[in-house]
Amino acid sequence: QPVNGYLNFFLNRGNFAKDTLQKVMAAPERWGSGNEGEGKTVVLDYSSINIAKRFHIGHLSTTMIGNSLCRIYGFLGWHTVSVNHLGDWGTQFGKMICAYKKWGDKEEVEKGGVDAMTALYVRFHEEAEKNPELENEGRAWFKKIEDGDPEALEIFNWFKDVTLKDASRVYKKLGVQFDYYTGESFYHDKTDRVVSELKEKGLLTESDGAQVVDLSDDNMPPCLILKSDGTTIYATRDLAAIFYRKDTFHFDKCLYVVAYQQDLHFRQVFRVVEKMGYPWAKDQLVHVAFGMVSYEGQSLSTRKGHVLYLDELLDRAVEKALAIIEEKSPNLENKEEVARQVGVGAVIYADLQNGRIKDIDFSWDRVLSFDGETGPYVQYTHARCCSALRKAEGLEPAEPDYSALSDDYAQELLRQLSRFPETVREAANRYEPSIITRAVTELCKAYNKFYYENRIIVDEAPVREARIRLTKAVKDTIKTGLYLIGIEAPERM
Ligand code: ARG
Repeated sequence: QPVNGYLNFFLNRGNFAKDTLQKVMAAPERWGSGNEGEGKTVVLDYSSINIAKRFHIGHLSTTMIGNSLCRIYGFLGWHTVSVNHLGDWGTQFGKMICAYKKWGDKEEVEKGGVDAMTALYVRFHEEAEKNPELENEGRAWFKKIEDGDPEALEIFNWFKDVTLKDASRVYKKLGVQFDYYTGESFYHDKTDRVVSELKEKGLLTESDGAQVVDLSDDNMPPCLILKSDGTTIYATRDLAAIFYRKDTFHFDKCLYVVAYQQDLHFRQVFRVVEKMGYPWAKDQLVHVAFGMVSYEGQSLSTRKGHVLYLDELLDRAVEKALAIIEEKSPNLENKEEVARQVGVGAVIYADLQNGRIKDIDFSWDRVLSFDGETGPYVQYTHARCCSALRKAEGLEPAEPDYSALSDDYAQELLRQLSRFPETVREAANRYEPSIITRAVTELCKAYNKFYYENRIIVDEAPVREARIRLTKAVKDTIKTGLYLIGIEAPERM
């Protein structure tokens, strides 16, 4: 009897190893994917930067959470549509054009980019204090944009191009892309339909000359639709965007990856759509909110002069990663490329490490450490797996002895591998990339324990083969997990 129990133990554990590894290996680098999203479309509205403003570290979360959700949904078979809902509408752009016409210089803006535009805007406000008439001129220029005046549009579109050129540098570093850059201005001429439908359905009421939708039944302040001068606001354009996206993409879900501060805005807008008689608003429109980022313990306020621009942050991360690599692996071939992957990966990892609603504090020491829960640690474990697999290349092949994976360390790894598909789905259902970040980190910890306890390249070929297969499955899954949160996986570090 005891002998039987002993045998069963190995048999069960061996079978679990065999089943799990065969499943993982059946679709290398696709373990955890699925086709349950087939025929379904998700629109993801993220990053959504403002024209003439520089990308700062506060934009990191919306960009990376959105990018990750896009990959996760795609991995589950959904058709994804990524949209950068540019903040490109408002009187400030009239003021900027006004300032440009008075004091601006084409070359300066081309060279200085967003900073030069900001400077023009600041100058406008300084001068307007002395000469309030300027405010009217600024408004008049915005009116020209609204009316489609060719000169106004030309300057405005050029401001946009310059901003997007700046932003695309950052997007390139982060490995992020968008299907559409359709901003608020795109919806400007699509708001009429919303306003008349609201009117028809008796939802508009007047309040101090403005048109609003009353939401007191929902314990919310009214949703402003038209200001007293008849112009639309942010919410009106978001309403127009919802109907445009529904008609154009026929989405099953539309996700808004936007800071928690806009919670009320989205609750109001979604509720208005529901009140218009579209019940899908309730579960298809989702505000994926996230908390604030601070830097080395300090909040990021522009006013205190403590802004950290995202491209600077990324460059510094890469520089620091390079210094570490020079020290740790001086003989590495493509140090620069690896430093880029590690530096950028460290920043992204730090951003997606914790539940999105939690505030994040960004500190170099923690982010770039090679041990503990960091991007470099995960990437390093991946590279360690790759290295073990390289050592096994060319060795005599054999049928694996799966019972060699009966030890607790191997079994824990196998359990984690077998749970990975569930993890991906949970991350999708909860719009929570950190679930993947954490699972991949745990997988790395478990692999490093296993690696510490077991030699991979042993003489006994069937045992070796079993451990190699396990290593390969772990490597592929780490790589997949990193891909799903938007991080590259170097093979040597
Ligand atoms: N541009 C806005 C901001 O920076 C975010 C836009 C989010 N998307 C939307 N559809 N409202 O605050």
